[in-house]
Amino acid sequence: METPAPRAVADGVFWVGVNDRVKRLFEALWPLPDGVSYNAYVVDGGDVALIDAAPEEFAYEYLGRVGEVVGDLSRVKYLVLNHLEPDHHGATPYILQRLKHVKVVASTTASRLIHSLYKVPADRIIAVKDGDTLDLGRRRLRFIHAPWLHWPETMFTYLEDSGVLFTCDAFGAYGALERGIFDDEVDLNRYISEARRYYVNIVAKYGRNVIDALEKIKPLDVRIIAPSHGPIYRRHVSEMLRLYRKWAAPEPDRRRAVVLFGSMYGRTRQLAEHIAEELRKAGFTTSIYDASDAHPSYILADLVEAYALVVVYPTYDGGVFPYIHNVLHLLQSKSLGRGRVAAVVNTYVWAPTSRQAVEALQKAGFKIVEPVVETKALPDEKALAEIGRLVKALSEI
Ligand SMILES: Cc1cc2nc3c(=O)[nH]c(=O)nc-3n(C[C@H](O)[C@H](O)[C@H](O)COP(=O)(O)O)c2cc1C
Ligand SMILES: [Fe+2]
Ligand SMILES: [Fe+2]
Repeated sequence: METPAPRAVADGVFWVGVNDRVKRLFEALWPLPDGVSYNAYVVDGGDVALIDAAPEEFAYEYLGRVGEVVGDLSRVKYLVLNHLEPDHHGATPYILQRLKHVKVVASTTASRLIHSLYKVPADRIIAVKDGDTLDLGRRRLRFIHAPWLHWPETMFTYLEDSGVLFTCDAFGAYGALERGIFDDEVDLNRYISEARRYYVNIVAKYGRNVIDALEKIKPLDVRIIAPSHGPIYRRHVSEMLRLYRKWAAPEPDRRRAVVLFGSMYGRTRQLAEHIAEELRKAGFTTSIYDASDAHPSYILADLVEAYALVVVYPTYDGGVFPYIHNVLHLLQSKSLGRGRVAAVVNTYVWAPTSRQAVEALQKAGFKIVEPVVETKALPDEKALAEIGRLVKALSEI
């Protein structure tokens, strides 16, 4: 499918994003079943500013699209880098080489880090402090530092007269933009579920910084949210702000549980299915994942809305079953246990390992629900009674 032609987003503001349908894993970690867009924007206020760019391999396509909008590339004065990750700015060296008069505009923190990524010479950098503005002649850009979303240097750029907030990764979603670029032109449910997966994969570790950033933009009249991945929000601005607050708070559904299991020969699977069934009977909306089948990206995304995680796994070579271990590690890396509870059920033949799983979950921020259950490969009466008590404890929280 063709990438849509550059489009007007607001008066004098144009989307010049590109689509990546080749990359299979974002950051070499997170699946991209429908590709991903790298959105970038042209703001024409007399002088022209580019808001974010594209990965290195899209440099030529990107500048071609900018040229379609501005005609004469010598009108471009500034390249605003809201975030330094190469998915948005790998093209920087090429752009600066082609457009010798262009200056890079970046946060003070970014200006210190920029050389190690793109070797931008100091005389081509304008470092902006929080709240600084840039006059384009007829209109003004304002820079709002929003650090740690998800790197230390991140900022938002706000176009004052038309209320467009360029947020880079914040509010981003996986999925190339094909049939449209606005929230009211695309299959919004699909993109919102991909925005949630993007949030948990990329941004979630910094939930507290999300809350700070949301507080900071409260006084602004935001009429359009223009992120650098996925659709642009013009009809669902307040809904996206609400969702981000909910995911970041976190405000999970107290009656929603995720059962995650690993199983080589099927016994642990049976136990996990039994637990999931008991949780449903106790009134939980429950999803169940086989860690060997489901990509962690989706397990984590489900957990954003769930309150309880139940991990059911066999001991493997004296440790936690490897695919479960991987998810536990990612839960720690993303600090996803904050505001949630977890339970552990460990099957084994000669060496229980529940302590390892409990410690990993605690490090991720979960509160552990007792009893922690250790059971032989074939659970006995005592183990089944403990599982009954565990389900009861979960349902009484
Ligand atoms: C490759 C392999 C390594 C294992 N390592 C251990 C171990 O270190 N300690 C232990 O108590 N059980 C170990 N087990 C036994 C399993 O934990 C036990 O059989 C478990 O119930 C398997 O669950 P499943 O039927 O769902 O695959 C191992 C099993 C396999 C196949
Ligand atoms: Fe990023
Ligand atoms: Fe990004």
